[in-house]
Amino acid sequence: KGKLTRGLTVISALKELKYRGQPLPAAEYHRAATLGWCVEWLQAMFLVMDDIMDESETRRGQICWYLQPDVKMNAINDGLLLEAHIYVILQKYFGDDPVYVNLLELLHETTHQTALGQFLDLTTSEPDKVDFSRFSMEVCTEIYIYKTAFYSFYLPCALGMRLAGVTDDSLYSQAKEICKEMGCLFQVQDDYLDCYGDPERIGKVGTDIRDNKCSWLINRALKDCTPAQRKTLESNYAKKDPKCEAKVKEVYKKLDIEAKFKAYEEEAYAEIVAKIANIRGMPTTIFSQLLARIYKRDK
Ligand code: IPE
Ligand code: MN
Ligand code: MN
Repeated sequence: KGKLTRGLTVISALKELKYRGQPLPAAEYHRAATLGWCVEWLQAMFLVMDDIMDESETRRGQICWYLQPDVKMNAINDGLLLEAHIYVILQKYFGDDPVYVNLLELLHETTHQTALGQFLDLTTSEPDKVDFSRFSMEVCTEIYIYKTAFYSFYLPCALGMRLAGVTDDSLYSQAKEICKEMGCLFQVQDDYLDCYGDPERIGKVGTDIRDNKCSWLINRALKDCTPAQRKTLESNYAKKDPKCEAKVKEVYKKLDIEAKFKAYEEEAYAEIVAKIANIRGMPTTIFSQLLARIYKRDK
């Protein structure tokens, strides 16, 4: 029940880069869709694992996989199976293809980066260490790039580029830069929706405040708050108590963090549009389409 954005991006990337937006021949569509599913399987593995570590309750409008009474911690092995199946699919459909090793390396490297991102995310949010000196927008950005941008944005684009026969390293670097920017915007939105999103629409219930997460909202609040408000945040953040969570949200409200997010989103959008216009050597529709898909998203 996910949006399938990542998987579909592989297909649009190939379509835009090799066929200038014209429909893909059936065999080409099949290759792109196959890799699209590999990205979706990778994401499924990360989400199954992430929900265990974040102690989340729902995902994509359903009770989390690890909370199913007949699954529980078997979900860990299910995550491993989801990951292993990527390489079964890849070998089956690309085992004899000249780009096989490139595809494998891309998937392996991205998995490594994402796991590093999760490591950073989890180690800055240890439950018993409410210590705001560990948080900053710089740390936040580093977490976003590693835990989200590489697998959600760069991976599907780079897979599509590989299928399109792109070999020039400088084109991959340009794609990576723009994907990092879009990944950051996307994860700031995820942090915003964690607090202000409609659980019915986003299909999950926010956990960032009680999980002590180094999120954009808390960093922004720390930047603007009075010493008294900082005290309130310190004594109520990361408590497994809805009353404490409400206190934190009250400070967010007083600081009008919601309006500050909206302003940030506008700014980030304009900056990314400008950066896309500077890309040289390949069609950029793939990036503008992705940006249009995430701008002002509410799920
Ligand atoms: C998830 O990050 C990142 C990965 C699954 C790699 P979050 O923990 O911030 O995402 P949600 O809000 O649970 O979807
Ligand atoms: Mn997480
Ligand atoms: Mn999570």
